Amino acid sequence: MLINNWYVACSAEALGDQPKRIQMLSHSFVLFRDENGRPNCLSDHCVHRGALLSQGTCHNGILQCPQHGWKFNGAGKCTLIPAGSKTPTEPPKRARVPSYPVQEKYGLLFVFLGDLQGDERPAVPDIMPEWDSGDWHKGIITREKNVNFIRMCENYNDPCHVHYIHEFAKWLPKGVSIVDHELTDRYVRAWHASHSPDGDYSDSAGLMMEYNVISCVSRNTNYQPGYPPQIVTAYVTPIDEYNTRIFMIILMPKHEITVLDGSRVRGATADEHKAMVDMTRETVMDEDYVVLKNTRPVFAASVTEELLVDTDRTLVQVRKITGEYGDKFGTVDVKSLRELEDTHITVIPSPDHKNNPKGWVHRTTPILAALDQPFARAAGKVPR
Ligand code: FES
Ligand SMILES: [Fe+2]
Repeated sequence: MLINNWYVACSAEALGDQPKRIQMLSHSFVLFRDENGRPNCLSDHCVHRGALLSQGTCHNGILQCPQHGWKFNGAGKCTLIPAGSKTPTEPPKRARVPSYPVQEKYGLLFVFLGDLQGDERPAVPDIMPEWDSGDWHKGIITREKNVNFIRMCENYNDPCHVHYIHEFAKWLPKGVSIVDHELTDRYVRAWHASHSPDGDYSDSAGLMMEYNVISCVSRNTNYQPGYPPQIVTAYVTPIDEYNTRIFMIILMPKHEITVLDGSRVRGATADEHKAMVDMTRETVMDEDYVVLKNTRPVFAASVTEELLVDTDRTLVQVRKITGEYGDKFGTVDVKSLRELEDTHITVIPSPDHKNNPKGWVHRTTPILAALDQPFARAAGKVPR
């Protein structure tokens, strides 16, 4: 599980005026809104006696611990110790919990889990420019699955599973070929054209798959003849190494639009879009899950222990760039964490840890140093 990355914690709509507990990277976080409605994210465990702050209350943007009433602001600083202190309104410096940057985009709340400073932090990718135009129907789905997060990202970039797993796509020609391919160290995009049954592919019918390791987001743009295009964007957040939360956004055009080969395709009605969102939530995501939950190994495989073909190129790149990002910016050392978690509270390093490494009550989570990671070494063998 990568640190120093943006993750979707919840939809903006899901965070009301009271604190909300969110599990990410095997840690508990609390999200709450300040007095101006801006979202904040803190480590969820109180520095006093370890209670969950998310079980407390929020008034005028100040979070109050449920156990002894200590108060915390959005920066994680304690502002009041009601009992047991000679200076209740001037708590000691160590009376603070880590605070993590939050950004709202596409109707979602993104949290940066790591210690990179402002300038060093990557931007949340602009992967859905259609969002602000007003010309697209929008729907957000949130689901949880017990599948490792990289396995889930691989699936969203696997063009050939669609025609077999998904009932709605079984009528499509089964052949797929990669027509166009773009790759950076954080981003991969491929245009997969669908073959006709006699082997010809069509430039106007196919699937564009994109993945950006920043926020672990996959975007699928799907063009099929005579049907309005669909843009399906999936953000994947590791709850822990075995469980994943998926935030899926489905866009369909309200009006006729021009697609890649220059042809015009009709827009979708609100009912058609709603049917697509409902079908994805109730059927399509579960069709993937039925297979993924039993796919082994649980974590991404070594490429030498799979028999890969050309159309696996995109998903293998997803695995590789995700592994490389972890090598560079750190991953949670899950084994060491498991040994600590019943006896200690650990926190994901925050930007304030770098400025001020001392003077924290809770220790930082063990982080794997680069190339200590067996997965990354395996991914490093992937041919380009
Ligand atoms: S545990 Fe939070 S105030 Fe005591
Ligand atoms: Fe799928």
